[in-house]
Amino acid sequence: MQEIQFAPSILSADFTRLGEEIEAVDHAGAEVIHIDVMDGHFVPNITIGPLVVKAARKATEKIFDVHLMITDADQYVDAFADAGADWITVHVEACTHLHRTVSRIKELGKKAGAVLNPATSLSCLDYILEDLDLVMLMSVNPGFGGQSFIESTLTKTDNLKKRIDTLGLEIGIEIDGGISPATIERVAAAGANIFVAGSAIYGCDEYGPVIAEMRKLAEAGKAKRG
Ligand code: DX5
Ligand code: ZN
Repeated sequence: MQEIQFAPSILSADFTRLGEEIEAVDHAGAEVIHIDVMDGHFVPNITIGPLVVKAARKATEKIFDVHLMITDADQYVDAFADAGADWITVHVEACTHLHRTVSRIKELGKKAGAVLNPATSLSCLDYILEDLDLVMLMSVNPGFGGQSFIESTLTKTDNLKKRIDTLGLEIGIEIDGGISPATIERVAAAGANIFVAGSAIYGCDEYGPVIAEMRKLAEAGKAKRG
């Protein structure tokens, strides 16, 4: 899980043409499709459920990264797994029994990730890190696309990367929120390797060139880290 991967967030896609929008980022070189699930409780917005994930599954064979911003993940992980999720990420702030939730996701044969809001400390990962396939750090407060990148994510990413490397783990570091050509190089230099981007990709007329530009910048950032 440590290679550079791009995960366009369909939250910023044109939902009247969702299938085509997914095919377009697939053909533009994205490795992963990021799907934001919001319940109107954990976050102040409501988006999509398993039904839409299942329909979207017909548009591509790329990895489906389902980001659950919901209060009761335990009740829904099976449904999202059945609908075609490959990775399921859950918020540590929303999961009272995080170990149980992560175990269930893995039992279902899916990759499991924990997500931390911007103000949540890395210390909440102390007793779960080794069970995870990836950690996703929010670099905006979840709920909406198109927000500004929160700078403290850089130090947090660096600290997480050092911890993962010290422990000799192969866990991916995914960053979600405000990723664009203006921010991605520093985020990669801080140690992230999976990049979610919604408005920066779907806001462009053509998706290929912006993904290629960000990939170059991410590689430059990674090289700086050494
Ligand atoms: C926010 C979502 C993000 C969002 C990112 O709650 O989790 O995935 O789509 O959008 P941008 O890239 O526009 O900040
Ligand atoms: Zn997301």
